[in-house]
Amino acid sequence: MGCLRLSFIVIILAVGAGWYFRSTEDVRVKEILNTVLKLTPKPIVDLFQPAEDDSHDAKKQEKVTDNEVKSTSRIFSKQDLWDNYRGGDGSKGVYLAFFGKVFDVSKGKEHYGPGGGYHFFAGRDGTKGFVTGDFSDEGLTDDIDGMDSKLMIGFDDWIQFYSSTYTYVGTVIGQFYDENGKPTEALKNANKLIAEAKQAKKQQDEENKILPMCNSESSAAKGSRVWCSTKSGGVERSWVGVPRQYHPPGANSPRCACVRTNGKPSYGADDGKNRGDLGNPYLREYDNCHSTSDSCVIKQPK
Ligand code: HEM
Repeated sequence: MGCLRLSFIVIILAVGAGWYFRSTEDVRVKEILNTVLKLTPKPIVDLFQPAEDDSHDAKKQEKVTDNEVKSTSRIFSKQDLWDNYRGGDGSKGVYLAFFGKVFDVSKGKEHYGPGGGYHFFAGRDGTKGFVTGDFSDEGLTDDIDGMDSKLMIGFDDWIQFYSSTYTYVGTVIGQFYDENGKPTEALKNANKLIAEAKQAKKQQDEENKILPMCNSESSAAKGSRVWCSTKSGGVERSWVGVPRQYHPPGANSPRCACVRTNGKPSYGADDGKNRGDLGNPYLREYDNCHSTSDSCVIKQPK
């Protein structure tokens, strides 16, 4: 019974607090609430999963697994999108599509509306242009077939950006979604390539921490020089390292890497030699540079 009474008091307090927060004109309280809400991250379930839909004119979207949008999604034809959603006189709003997903970008009208610097994205799916920077009609296409897979990583930031900034309203029939709003093979393939590109970038970032790039300078007077410091390659660290040519399998050409010279190796088992990563088989010393020097002239001045 005591427990019931306590629950009752808690409910009264919660309702009271809710009423206060809703009705208060106290700007600071609202600011705090907004901050808390902003700090709560929106879950991005899948690379291509639309953000939770709270749009005014779209039917409620239902999230389903495996990159599908249920048939309750609003489905646009390319023509409808182009004719009615470019923000001009009599248009129904400013929408754009990215990877076949249509977003209401009306709140970014200054960019996407008539006269805006990015108006060319409005009313169509110009996915490819987002990473190629080709904003011609041919470049603004949803056909990304045969694109260099290294460029795919560039899409990732835009996916995050549109999902978190603008309201998702549906799909456009094209390369990525069919007339029933079902994802196509092209979308699934793109999804896979982007995931792979992200993974490759992650590995590259990790490798760059272990073998950071060298600083370099080149001039006719001084020749070319590479050197290491505790910040070279943008990697802040406690050690300086020594410059080596690093040519891992699959790389087209060697690059200069700063190599840690003591402690255990980063890769593989501890060889007990206390020589850091110097035992990495893909490293080579620069000619005419002392093996312990943190700076090497790789081309003499003229
Ligand atoms: C592939 C190349 C590029 C693409 C696809 C691109 C795309 C975009 C898009 C879509 C927006 C609007 C974002 C929004 O909805 O808020 C934007 C904004 C902006 N972009 Fe770019 N952009 C590119 C390159 C550049 C470059 C090279 C610069 C600068 C030299 C630049 C400067 C800006 C600035 C300053 C804004 C914000 C404008 C403002 O807030 O008024 N962009 N960009």
